[in-house]
Amino acid sequence: MGKINGNTKGLRRSSIEQLEKIYDMETERKQFCTPEMIEALADFTEATGREAMVYLDRSGRVVTVAAGEHDRVKLPALNLRRSQFRLCGIRCIHTHPKGSNLSDKDLQTLKSLRLDAIAAVGISGGKPVAIQVGVLDTMTPDNEFTVNLFGPFNIDVIPDDELWAEIRSADVRIRPAESQKAGAEIARAILIGIDGNQESGESPCALCELSQLANTAGFIIAGHMVQPRIKPDNSYYFGYGKLQDLIFKIEALNADAVIFDDELTPAQIRNIQKELGKKIELIDRTALILDIFSSRASTHEGRLQVELAQTKYLLPRMMGFWTHLSRMGGGGGSGKGARRGEGETQLEADRRILRKRLNELEKEIDKIKSRRNVQRSARERSNIPVIAIVGYTNAGKSTLLNTLSGSNVLAEDKLFATLDPVSRRVNFGSGDFLLVDTVGFINKLPHDLVDAFRATLEETQYADLILHIVDASSETQTQQMEVVGEVLTRLGVNNKPILTVYNKCDLSNNPGPLRHNENYVDVSAKTGTGIANLKNAISQKLSEARCEISVLLPLDAGALVSRIYTVGQVTGCEYLTDGIYLNAVVTLEDSARLCASATKIYMGER
Ligand code: GTP
Repeated sequence: MGKINGNTKGLRRSSIEQLEKIYDMETERKQFCTPEMIEALADFTEATGREAMVYLDRSGRVVTVAAGEHDRVKLPALNLRRSQFRLCGIRCIHTHPKGSNLSDKDLQTLKSLRLDAIAAVGISGGKPVAIQVGVLDTMTPDNEFTVNLFGPFNIDVIPDDELWAEIRSADVRIRPAESQKAGAEIARAILIGIDGNQESGESPCALCELSQLANTAGFIIAGHMVQPRIKPDNSYYFGYGKLQDLIFKIEALNADAVIFDDELTPAQIRNIQKELGKKIELIDRTALILDIFSSRASTHEGRLQVELAQTKYLLPRMMGFWTHLSRMGGGGGSGKGARRGEGETQLEADRRILRKRLNELEKEIDKIKSRRNVQRSARERSNIPVIAIVGYTNAGKSTLLNTLSGSNVLAEDKLFATLDPVSRRVNFGSGDFLLVDTVGFINKLPHDLVDAFRATLEETQYADLILHIVDASSETQTQQMEVVGEVLTRLGVNNKPILTVYNKCDLSNNPGPLRHNENYVDVSAKTGTGIANLKNAISQKLSEARCEISVLLPLDAGALVSRIYTVGQVTGCEYLTDGIYLNAVVTLEDSARLCASATKIYMGER
C-alpha cells in the first residue's frame, strides 16, 4: 500500500484509509479517471474539509495520493519531467471543497510541472458534482504557456476520448519546432565518433556537426562519446572495450538510439546490434542525413531522389538493420506486395521488392531528367546568364537568394532547410540573370546522395558563375570550404568562374572594413551589409564571363560578325546560302546579342 503524501497532520486513521484505498484503483488505458477514484477523493474532502489529490500515469496507474489543506494540496516532490520537450506523462486530479473551477495556482502547477492535465472536482453536499480539466496549449513568444480549459463537465459524462486527444496533441504542440518529428516519439540519442587528432579524453566538439544534424532530425542529445583513433574498428566501430563503456552509458542515460559520425558497414551494424541489443536504434551518419533529406524534400523529383538513395543504402544492410526500415519507410516484410514466393526467405522477398523499386525509381528519374533538359534548352535559347549559389549547409544561401531577389525562400537555422533547387530571375540594372539556390553540401555527404542530387546540382554545371557562400562566423570555415571545393571538383565545375562570398560578417569577432575584390566579397545577407559590393562584383564577373556559341545569322549581319572577330574568339565562320554560320567564344553580353539576331541557335557545334 502506498503512503499518503501531503499534510496528514491531525487526520483520523479512517480518513487516511479512505485515501489509501485509491492505490488499489487504476483507470482503463483510455479513461481519464474512474468514478470510484473521484468518489474516494470526494468522501475524504467531505469528511475532513480538505483537498485531496491523485497523480495518474499514462498507463492508468496511481503514482501517488496526497492530502491537503482546505484550499490547496502541497504536491509531493516527484521526478516528473521526462524531457524538456514533452509533457511529463502524469495527470493530477484533485478536489475543491468550494466550486469546480481550476484556480490560478492549479494552472501554475500545470505549467511548471508540464503535467498532462490538471483536473478540479467540485464537491457539493458531500458529492462530486462537476469536473474542470486544464491542458497546456502553446508557448507564447515570452516562454509562457497558455492553457485550454475543458468543462466543467458532469461527473457522469467525462469525455475521455476528447481529453486524451487533447493531451496527445498538446504533447506534440509544446515541442519546439526543431525537436518535432511527425508522428514519432522523440528519441534520446548518444552521439558516437572517432577523432584522429585527439590525444586523449572526450571532446564533444568533434561531434558538433553531428549534434546539429541530430537536432535537425529531432533527436534529444542524451550524451556523446569520442574515441581517439585514426580509423574505425572494422568489427565494432569503437574498440571492443569502449563499446562496453557505451553499453553502460546507454543504461545510465536512458538512451534509445546511438548515432555514429560515420557510415557503418553492414557487418559493423550486425556486430554492434548484437552487443547493444535490438531495443537500441543504430543510426549512422548517412542514415541520419537521408532521414533529414527525406523529411525535407518537397518536390516530386526531390522525393524520388531521396528514396533512390535510401533504397541503395538499405539493400546491402537489410540483414540486421531492421530498425532502419521503419524509420526510412523502406521495404519491411509486411508491406504492400511483400508476398513471398515458394522457398523464398523473407529477406530475399524484401530484397526483391527493393530491387524492383530501385528500377522503377531510376526510370522515373530518367524521365524527369529528360524533361528538365528540354526546360534547360529553352532557357539557353533565351540566353539568360545563370548564377548558381553553392555552399556548406547553413552558410546562408537561401537568405542571400532572398536578399538579392527580394523573395521569400525558406531560410532556417537548420541543416538542409532547402533541398530542392529554387531559382529567381533578378536584374541589378545590367540585364536579367537567373539565381539558382542549390542543396547545401556537408562533410561526408553520402556518395549516393551526391549522385542522387547530381541532377539538381547539375544547375552548377550549366551556370555561368558560381557564388560560393561561406559562413565566415563558423569555426570550421576552412574545412567547410574544402568540402565544397571537393564536391565542386566531383561535379567537374571547379574551373568555372567562382566568386567567394564571406557571409555573416555581422557575427565576425574582428569587425573591420569590409573586404571585396573581383574574387571575394564580405557580406551579411541578413543585414544587407556589403550587398552593393556583391552586386558590383557579380556584374563585373558576368561581364568577364564567356561562353561558346554556335548560331546562324542572316546574310546581312556582316557588321556583327566583324565585331565578334574583334572582341571574341571566332573558331568557325562560313557563308552559307541561307545565312552566316558562326561559332565563337564571346562574352555573355555578346552572346545575348548574337542570339537576338540569329535565325537559328545550335546546341553545341553544328
Ligand atoms: P541549407 O538549406 O541548410 O543549405 O542552409 P542555407 O545555406 O540556405 O542557409 P539559410 O539561408 O537557411 O541560413 C541559415 C541560418 O543562418 C538562418 O538562421 C539565417 O537566418 C542565418 N543567416 C544567414 N545569413 C546570415 C547573416 O548574414 N548573418 C547572420 N547573423 N545570420 C545569417
